[in-house]
Amino acid sequence: MSKFATGVAIISTLAPDGAPHGMTANALTSVSLEPPLLLVCIAHNRNTYGYVRVQQRFGVNFLSQGQAAIARYFAREPKERLGDVAVPWQVSGAASPRLDGALAFMDCRVVAMHDHGDHAIVVAEVDDVSVGGGVPLLYYERQLFAMDNGVPSPGL
Ligand SMILES: Cc1cc2nc3c(=O)[nH]c(=O)nc-3n(C[C@H](O)[C@H](O)[C@H](O)COP(=O)(O)O)c2cc1C
Repeated sequence: MSKFATGVAIISTLAPDGAPHGMTANALTSVSLEPPLLLVCIAHNRNTYGYVRVQQRFGVNFLSQGQAAIARYFAREPKERLGDVAVPWQVSGAASPRLDGALAFMDCRVVAMHDHGDHAIVVAEVDDVSVGGGVPLLYYERQLFAMDNGVPSPGL
């Protein structure tokens, strides 16, 4: 899978004390347009797995190329998340935490969880979307990349 280039997302939940919690993720894909469904694969031993099971909600924040430090930060276990990485969470109402500066945010409600191996496939319906501007952060062969000049090649 390291030969498959992806974007990078932060899956956002609330920890039991109500604080925003993040997990770096790239095992993420669209599932359906009508209704709007996506899936994310979460390992059973992640904190995020437990929080999603309890809350039945999570947020998806697509990172922009200036957010590599945030991707690295949320790829570590919470006790290793040291240093002064600014994480500009926005929390409002019942929605999952949203990261300022992300390319897009989707507030998701779980509709199914399927356990396979050491991960769960979590299928969720998108209740709300907000789209920002910017250029994506990319992940390939276990490294983060900024998109070179942000200009896509024309056509498909
Ligand atoms: C680029 C990247 C993508 C990742 N994708 C996933 C993923 O899709 N699912 C997953 O369970 N862990 C993934 N991880 C690992 C988690 O980010 C990492 O285990 C994190 O510490 C989990 O935090 P938590 O246990 O507090 O939820 C990824 C890590 C990196 C660096």
